Amino acid sequence: MEATIVSDRLKHYPVLLNEVISVISPQHGGTFIDSTFGQGGFTKKILNYKNTKVIGIDRDINSEIIGKKIQEKFPNRFLFKNLRFSNLSNLKLKNENIRGIVFDLGYSLNQIKEEKKGLSFNSKGKLNMMMGLNKFSANDVINNLEGNQIAKILKYFGDENDAKIIARNIVKERQSKRIDTQKLVKIIEKSKRKKNYKIHFATKTFQALRIFVNSEISELICGLISSVKVLKKGGTLAVITFHSLEDKIVKYFFKSLSENKSISRYLPKVEQKKILFKMLIKKPIIPSVKEVKENPSSRSAKLRYLIKLEDAHEIESDISEKFSHLLDIENLGLRL
Ligand SMILES: C[S@@+](CC[C@H](N)C(=O)[O-])C[C@H]1O[C@@H](n2cnc3c(N)ncnc32)[C@H](O)[C@@H]1O
Repeated sequence: MEATIVSDRLKHYPVLLNEVISVISPQHGGTFIDSTFGQGGFTKKILNYKNTKVIGIDRDINSEIIGKKIQEKFPNRFLFKNLRFSNLSNLKLKNENIRGIVFDLGYSLNQIKEEKKGLSFNSKGKLNMMMGLNKFSANDVINNLEGNQIAKILKYFGDENDAKIIARNIVKERQSKRIDTQKLVKIIEKSKRKKNYKIHFATKTFQALRIFVNSEISELICGLISSVKVLKKGGTLAVITFHSLEDKIVKYFFKSLSENKSISRYLPKVEQKKILFKMLIKKPIIPSVKEVKENPSSRSAKLRYLIKLEDAHEIESDISEKFSHLLDIENLGLRL
């Protein structure tokens, strides 16, 4: 679980900024979508290039304040939308020359510092974890879902080895009192069998709950599918991930669009789909040693990008089927 913006010296800056700019090439102009606007780090940099337009999207209404300031400066070149990026296709983009779409996943330092959002295990008070435009909170999850459902969330979204023990203890403790953030931290500490000194003992549980509360799996899958549809020929989709689950989804999606599945030569020939996308490099771009030194929370960032080769709106991908087991877990939220 990482924040991409650091304020060590009260200076906010986004991760892999130069690398993102180099792959989306705003110097040629066009419209760009900053799907995770945050503090506007990428947007501001893109707008430095003439003949560019940016549509900034963020589910957190707090980003609107920064969005409004940029809009005042660039009234004809910038637009902010308080939207979940899964709804990107609701934007009227038909006449836009979309040259690049950027996703910088996760949350920002500002969000983790906002006590009442409860994203940090140092937060006090009621469980929350909602980034914006949510249907339920971590309080609803922890205090209402069944033990085996909570265990599934922790295991699959946080890779938490002690998921079952933590879930059992949550159910036991909530019988006497509602569980708040600090109580949850204590339950996790008590439940952990082994101490891992590399990461805080509550990291995995908090990551899992945040992913679940914010429907991050379906958000990512729908956001990626909508993006590749609206991108114009030659346009680039760039995605920065911060944990292995996100990266696995992005990697699979990019591969599924840019390669045909290998089929045994002994099987009957089936018609292969037309390849509409290209990955110039298969390995992700990671922050330089210098960047990690300046901003340690950038260390787990991975940037992957994909180029659209033809104008096409119909895209074939089996990504939803591939990750259906995770989408099914997310659907447990429908009962809340
Ligand atoms: C890591 S920050 C982005 C920082 C940004 N690149 C910058 O330079 O300031 C991630 C942002 O994405 C937003 N976000 C996360 N999931 C989202 C979603 N599904 N739809 C829209 N915004 C989302 C968060 O609210 C947060 O502001």
